Amino acid sequence: MSSTLTARTPVAVPPSDGLWFGKDLSTPEPISEEAIERAVALMRSGRLHRYGEQGSGYPEPSLLEQDYATYVGSKYCVAVSSCGAAMFIALKALGVKRGDKVLTSTFTLAPVPGAIAHAAAEAVLVETNADYVTDLADLERKAATSGARVLLLSHMRGHIVDLSATRAICDKYGIAIIEDCAHTMGAKWDGKHTGTWGKIGCYSAQTYKHINSGEGGLLVTDDDDVAAQAILMSGCYMMYDQHILKPGPDVFERWKYVTPNFSMRMSNLAAALLRPQIGQLTERGRRWNHIYSTLERELAKTEQVLIPARDAKEEFIASSIQFTLNLKPHQIERFLKECASRGLYIKWFGVATPVAFTSNYEHWHYLAGKPDIPSSKAVLDQLLDLRTPLSLTNDDCILIGKIVAAATRLAVAVN
Ligand SMILES: Cc1ncc(COP(=O)(O)O)c(C=O)c1O
Repeated sequence: MSSTLTARTPVAVPPSDGLWFGKDLSTPEPISEEAIERAVALMRSGRLHRYGEQGSGYPEPSLLEQDYATYVGSKYCVAVSSCGAAMFIALKALGVKRGDKVLTSTFTLAPVPGAIAHAAAEAVLVETNADYVTDLADLERKAATSGARVLLLSHMRGHIVDLSATRAICDKYGIAIIEDCAHTMGAKWDGKHTGTWGKIGCYSAQTYKHINSGEGGLLVTDDDDVAAQAILMSGCYMMYDQHILKPGPDVFERWKYVTPNFSMRMSNLAAALLRPQIGQLTERGRRWNHIYSTLERELAKTEQVLIPARDAKEEFIASSIQFTLNLKPHQIERFLKECASRGLYIKWFGVATPVAFTSNYEHWHYLAGKPDIPSSKAVLDQLLDLRTPLSLTNDDCILIGKIVAAATRLAVAVN
């Protein structure tokens, strides 16, 4: 066994009461045979870069862009190297410059403030409420006072704020919305795909997302100028004709001499792996939501667990579940330790030092000034997080509920 694997795999001894989980919650679904065959054929050809100076036909990323734009109902889609790259390109395409303020979600993960920092802009954090979504009163206050022209809205862990109301606030103050849909691919608000409510939508195809090519991102927009800039910035050199979805030549004429190439393209290989997965999203969503509702029911059996009800307009696809554990921080630490000793690794957004993928705004010391968010901390301090791989069975969900109940009983007793 490699030392990396050993370092990542804590050893816990199964307890005698049988409440032992032990499954790896970060196990992804295998790549389908169809996708593997396409990838192998591509490797045999050696043509892994999406652009070619000669030849005909459209490369895999152009076909993926077409499929995905049809799926969400957008005019354009640009395939890039990651969702972080998509968000960076989105900010640049909207003209965000050094020192500009960008409104963004407090409850999110590091690549979101990272994209703002990459664009040399300043993140202005907007409060997250007890439903784990953006506090619209705070958004309105900061839209009116911050001078920001862009909101980078993160649908963190698949929780979707009222997008009609968000758009109304942003329209009132002339603010463009970029949606971070890393956790909401396939999800909708009021029947319309997330990512299509604002000016630009950004999606991830990193392994722990709804579709998986290891790394990968998609940017969607209906705006001609944004699309042309995104194609050029992603690194098409002057081969934008190899995109199926593209604005007219006059639009590229406007941008081609003034737009830097940031080399953030998607490779043919990643696109070949992703194309068959678009067609699997609906079925995967159904399975994920079955797991979510089963876990929701089992976790709710513990009095201290609170799971916010979701709005009827929110058609989420839950690849994870979050819950509020109504305990003090030191009790939550005890809770987590007990769960881990039973082979159940739960993440905590109130954690004092960043752990693996989980960090919070208190760890992003590059943010300018002290964030003005008096109430988000209380939400994050009790917010727990569990990945829900599609391999989870009903029995697994019941067992997780029992372990959470047992660990809570122990933690409550800690003074
Ligand atoms: C909320 C959120 N937004 C954006 C990203 C960035 O995605 P990527 O890894 O494709 O850059 C992530 C990645 O985990 C994320 O969790």
